[in-house]
Amino acid sequence: MIKKVGFIGWRGIVGSVLMRRMIEENNFENIDATFFSTSQIGSICPLFLGKNYILNDAYDFSLLKNMDIIVSCQGSEYTDIVYNKLRSLRWNGYWIDASSSLRMNNDSIIVLDPVNIQLIKKGIYNGIKTFVGGNCTVSLMLMALGGLFQNNLIESLIFSTYQAASGAGSKHIIELIRQMGYLYNIVSSDLNNISISILDIEKKISNSILELNFPKKQFGTSLAGNVLPWIDVFTESQQTKEEWKVQEEANKILNQKNNICIDGTCVRVGALRCHSQSFFIKLRKNLSCDNLTEIIQNHNDWIRVIPNDYKSTIKYLTPISVSGTLNISVGRIRKLNVGSNIFSVFTVGDQLLWGAAEPLRRILMLLLS
Ligand code: HSE
Repeated sequence: MIKKVGFIGWRGIVGSVLMRRMIEENNFENIDATFFSTSQIGSICPLFLGKNYILNDAYDFSLLKNMDIIVSCQGSEYTDIVYNKLRSLRWNGYWIDASSSLRMNNDSIIVLDPVNIQLIKKGIYNGIKTFVGGNCTVSLMLMALGGLFQNNLIESLIFSTYQAASGAGSKHIIELIRQMGYLYNIVSSDLNNISISILDIEKKISNSILELNFPKKQFGTSLAGNVLPWIDVFTESQQTKEEWKVQEEANKILNQKNNICIDGTCVRVGALRCHSQSFFIKLRKNLSCDNLTEIIQNHNDWIRVIPNDYKSTIKYLTPISVSGTLNISVGRIRKLNVGSNIFSVFTVGDQLLWGAAEPLRRILMLLLS
């Protein structure tokens, strides 16, 4: 029987990527879709799916209750208001969520099927009804290092992230681009003037960030020409919440009874939509670099191992080269000279695809099948 699937937050940045992927894969063909809105109730859904869909009220519980599956990319605030109430009305459908609200609940599964398909299948069999996408950094890390986790090779893991503006939202991407333009305009006429020192150009740029008109409403400062080693709120553990999530969510996704220790620093950089991560990995046993590479490569179909040379690295191991693809580029693989069994790996993945929308699309397809 054709399932009724309700979509909320399909116009936001993650929702839009999800819609595009579903259209690309013809996923709307076999579902009865209903589109909800919190702001434009009654207007026509602008997605072209060969049919005019009217937007429904995202707080209309009688309509929500009719859905077999609800997919929300609307954010935590919406989930917090709607989810418990809907369940208390005895709605027993599947809830698929992009936000972090329900991630750590005992009765939810964080979905990343190339890594935890067995857990997902067992969950479906046992009646789990709530499936949540993981934090983007966590999902991209597990996609890249899945082979090492699967083979229980990791004793401990230290990360440094280089997270794109997209992770903070579409307004942040726009602000980053505005900042780039603002800074360029300040010095554009100086760039061809050989009598102006580069030190004076740099000074002008640094000072202009203090100007009242400098666009920094979202980031609070410049991300252009800068890095921000702080993402999300402070936690008791002295980590930011983004850093705290990595060990917690990763171990939940992997269904690890004995936590694998993972910690590091999360940093926002001026990339647009791909997150990069640098890892120092302490292995449980001695492996050669070739062994390690093979294990990483064989884990899933999206891994692209990039040779450890300059040309390949700048061509394939960068946010710009990965953007808009499902590729998980993994490179700079080498054994470090600081102790035994310690390796470094650098990886790049699209924050909006494997980091957000794709695991949701895939759990939806699995539930429909
Ligand atoms: N919290 C992430 C970030 C994105 O700020 O980059 C969502 O998983």
